[in-house]
Amino acid sequence: MTKSYFPKNFLWGGAIAANQAEGAWNIDGKGMSVADVAQYKPNVDPKDYVSQWHVSPTQIQKAMQTDDTTYYPKRHGIDFYHRYKEDLALFSKMGMKCLRVSIAWTRLFPTGTESTPNANGIAFYRNLFKEMNRLGIEPLVTLAHYEMPLYLVNHYDGWVSREVVDLFIRFCRVCFQEFNPYVHYWLTFNEIDSVFRHPFTTVGVVEEKYANKKEAEQAIYQALHHQFLASALATKELRKVDSTAKIGCMMTKTLAYPLTPNPEDALLAQQYNRNNYFYADVQVFGAYPQYMKNYFNSHDIHVQMHQGDEEILKQYTVDFVSFSYYMTMVKSIDEDHMEKVGGNLTTSVKNPYLETSDWGWQVDPVGLRISLIDIYDRYHLPVFIVENGIGAKDTFVDGTVHDDYRIKYFSDHFKQVNLAIRDGVDVMGFTTWGCIDIISASTSQISKRYGFVYVDLDDLGRGTYDRYPKDSYYWYKRVIETNGASL
Ligand code: BG6
Repeated sequence: MTKSYFPKNFLWGGAIAANQAEGAWNIDGKGMSVADVAQYKPNVDPKDYVSQWHVSPTQIQKAMQTDDTTYYPKRHGIDFYHRYKEDLALFSKMGMKCLRVSIAWTRLFPTGTESTPNANGIAFYRNLFKEMNRLGIEPLVTLAHYEMPLYLVNHYDGWVSREVVDLFIRFCRVCFQEFNPYVHYWLTFNEIDSVFRHPFTTVGVVEEKYANKKEAEQAIYQALHHQFLASALATKELRKVDSTAKIGCMMTKTLAYPLTPNPEDALLAQQYNRNNYFYADVQVFGAYPQYMKNYFNSHDIHVQMHQGDEEILKQYTVDFVSFSYYMTMVKSIDEDHMEKVGGNLTTSVKNPYLETSDWGWQVDPVGLRISLIDIYDRYHLPVFIVENGIGAKDTFVDGTVHDDYRIKYFSDHFKQVNLAIRDGVDVMGFTTWGCIDIISASTSQISKRYGFVYVDLDDLGRGTYDRYPKDSYYWYKRVIETNGASL
């Protein structure tokens, strides 16, 4: 037994996203989202994170002309849309206190431009949140998780267009008004810093439309500014409806270490980390940091701001900082010649002290503790780990999976969170990623399994969709029951 420093109200939970779980991509009035054109990519080099996510204009056109779900697996997901009661019952039996889900914008506003919402979409989420409330599972709801309406990409250039801010706020307003009786925790943009890693999925920018890299970069910063603004305006809207609800920003924490004590390596790592913080800095401090303004000046980047934008950013900052955490990076001035590892986030020099997952991601529990301390010391706001987990090739035998590797992974990470809390960090909760197997975001494989619950489905959509608890399910149940003392 470990001494547990987890507070009594710690939100032990799980996390999924609408586009990776719900399926039902074209029923009950739902419109197409960017996720519905994402193809199954089993053969992409795991280090090539850009290709994992890339969708070309030709692929968009092709996808719009087919109803195929086999090679567009997010279209069927794990059919959470029809099976959510069964899944919530499993989570409840596990003792889960919190579940992070997202609301598919296209279920409420199929093209994003309608003036009134689709009643079927409202009914689905109302029933979902009611059921969570009934079971004592606190909803943590992401408003934008890589699933913007495809119509806004094709007709508005995605978030580059300022009109999209108003359309998004219309969607948020409906969510707050309809769901505020059931939801007390909100997140605006999932991994807002992913704009440059996969601009199509994050801000609906199709890079091929721009004359060169420079123009695409300019467009992405413009789109990002609109998301910052939308995040602040969403906060403003929420405060009008419910003054007690909490809203947070969400970043990908990609901690970088210097490879050596060479100050040049340390400087590279610092620059990398500072860039990682830029996105949360704006949402917590309510202003662009000076280093980014200098970067814009020296690189001839002109982000168009309207009068009053800076005031809005300043006035409506977030209540807490949430983040995903999967791997850490290593920086070296000689990195061109060194062995690399990758993930769906970026490529890094290999860290000789760390093991890698089946998909080559560097596993680093201590890095989570360092990240928690760094984030808390920088922002002095409560922090929430809203994604962490290991994608693995599970073997299903005799109705279950003996996933001791997943148990070890979470045990190591939870122990570090416990120590970070002992070190004074205010951690609100931990929602493990893909608490039930779902379609992977980058390559659309379900064979990259994250869950405590196995879903009988293969990469080509064959299977019964039946659910089976894995060994880790019972292990996590015990962790929650003992509030971390069993670790
Ligand atoms: C995060 C995303 O980047 O990584 C999730 O917010 C995603 O949506 C998770 O699923 C894991 O990535 P992948 O590609 O293995 O599903």
